[in-house]
Amino acid sequence: MTISIRPRDPVARPFFAGEVSGIDITRPLTPQQAAAIDKGMDQYGVLVFHDQHFDDESQLAFSRNFGRLEEASGDLNWGKARRLESALVNDISNLDNDNQVMARDDRKRLFSLGNRLWHSDSSFKEVPAKYSLLSARLIPSAGGNTEFADMRTAYDALDDATKSEIENLVCEHSQLYSRSLLGFDDFTAEDRVRFKPVLQRLVRRHPSTGRKSLFLASHAGAIVGWPVPEARALLRDLIEHATQRQFVYAHEWKQWDLVMWDNRATMHRARPFDAKEVRDMHRTTVGCERSTMAEAA
Ligand SMILES: [Fe+2]
Repeated sequence: MTISIRPRDPVARPFFAGEVSGIDITRPLTPQQAAAIDKGMDQYGVLVFHDQHFDDESQLAFSRNFGRLEEASGDLNWGKARRLESALVNDISNLDNDNQVMARDDRKRLFSLGNRLWHSDSSFKEVPAKYSLLSARLIPSAGGNTEFADMRTAYDALDDATKSEIENLVCEHSQLYSRSLLGFDDFTAEDRVRFKPVLQRLVRRHPSTGRKSLFLASHAGAIVGWPVPEARALLRDLIEHATQRQFVYAHEWKQWDLVMWDNRATMHRARPFDAKEVRDMHRTTVGCERSTMAEAA
């Protein structure tokens, strides 16, 4: 069987979210297979693979086909004891270090609820994420979808006046800001240093396709040179624009799905589920080669 990549929704969103079949990505890829997947990412922005029985080692091996892997240093408890062995695997679960479902008021759980807000992974790092790869190890019986918004189509749909107004704007991104939107401010002095704002361009050009996109996230809390309330009002308007239903694909997870997305071309958010049930997802992350400020230069 050969690898096949087809649109998941050929009618409504022909170029957004592809479904890949005919390949076992838990096994080593040929260079041709890796190139076909990369090409699919450029076209779709989100790729879905079913029935991929990954462990962390095989997920890391698959991820390395696409570039340098990022450390999971956006975690609240980075540097402390953690549930997963590899520092290159993000723990996107509701489990504590003893594999028990976290208490409702667990600080780490409350911090992680920030994932319910629209974001692009690691936009709060100077060099943000290129691809994220999320493997569904255990899923709840209902809910817990991940929604993706296509920031290329959303950019294209802006009027010309808005496009020229935002062309050269630079935003400040920080997890301190996105968490404060939900009322979470339980940060240590050390967290505040680690999560200090970084600069990101608001409009990016994709290095492979040349397409422009909005680089938005709930982490963006300021625009350089703008009064803060005016900046936040514009960012809120842009997020509202970019997440209209016609730009959004909602992924309903099956166990052992692997979904891979391009953070340069999309935003995403997690949806709620019964907090008493287990949801165990492992994420590997391929970093961009340079900051968005350097990309523009
Ligand atoms: Fe995320």
